[in-house]
Amino acid sequence: MNNKVKKAVIPAAGLGTRFLPATKTIPKEMLPIVDKPSILYIVEECARAGIEDVILVAGRNKTAIEDFFDTSHEVESVLEAQGKIDLLEHICSIKNLVNIISIRQKFAHGLGHAIATAAPITGSEPFAVLLGDEIMISKDNQPSAIEELCRAFEDTHISTVATMEVPKEDVSKYGVIDCESIGVNKWSIKNVVEKPSPESAPSQFVLPGRYVFTASIMQELKTTRPGKNGEVQLTDGMTAVAKKEGLHAMTVQATRYDAGDKLGFLQANIELALKHPELKQPLTGYLKKLCETF
Ligand code: G1P
Repeated sequence: MNNKVKKAVIPAAGLGTRFLPATKTIPKEMLPIVDKPSILYIVEECARAGIEDVILVAGRNKTAIEDFFDTSHEVESVLEAQGKIDLLEHICSIKNLVNIISIRQKFAHGLGHAIATAAPITGSEPFAVLLGDEIMISKDNQPSAIEELCRAFEDTHISTVATMEVPKEDVSKYGVIDCESIGVNKWSIKNVVEKPSPESAPSQFVLPGRYVFTASIMQELKTTRPGKNGEVQLTDGMTAVAKKEGLHAMTVQATRYDAGDKLGFLQANIELALKHPELKQPLTGYLKKLCETF
């Protein structure tokens, strides 16, 4: 069995209703965090893990994402003519990060259905899944979040997903795992519950949107009935995989930003801008002044 993870699936078919009207004509994945569209952070995370093919499961009005990872003759020739070679090289490097393969999810039947749409491309190979609302930033000398999961999977051959502990009142925003410890920051999953109430949650360990699966998740998702909110839930497919061939969870080192809602998106922008070499100093000064006035 080939255990090298070379493919990743990024579901990108959502309408981005939480960011309307900004997302009326622009895919939410193209909203910038500092100076990069959020999807680029996700694709860079894949590239750092050695993933070669990124499968975008898109809906209508998402062609801007494909265009972003393609050549822009106009932009490139203008930069060349202006002698802006560093910027030109930076722009050109984006299209060489990975191969983008695009497939349409024709019906909005939920996350599990979106991922199953990519089955003809993932075939019998293991693959990663990255949810674009969650931005994971690792330090230069650290592996990316998905890289940590890929390496763990390559060792164990068991589907492995990221987990993190959240306060009890927050569990209902996430898939929550019922698990037992199998080592330092590692768990074996018995069951996964999608967005339970704090009272009924099996633990405070939730799924922050990074997964590596064997191909069997696709088999399970094909026959998974609609669950929570009438949607085919990835978490229901995961429970089936856990029972059939095992499923592991682990924490990852990267800093996570919940860019799926307005506050998290602003926090990601502020914190990443504070790490940006050009913005760090002026933004710190501005924020200090602002805090004095409020
Ligand atoms: C999805 C998943 C959930 C996961 C979450 C992470 O929910 O269904 O299991 O924990 O992403 O962000 P969504 O936030 O899309 O409703």
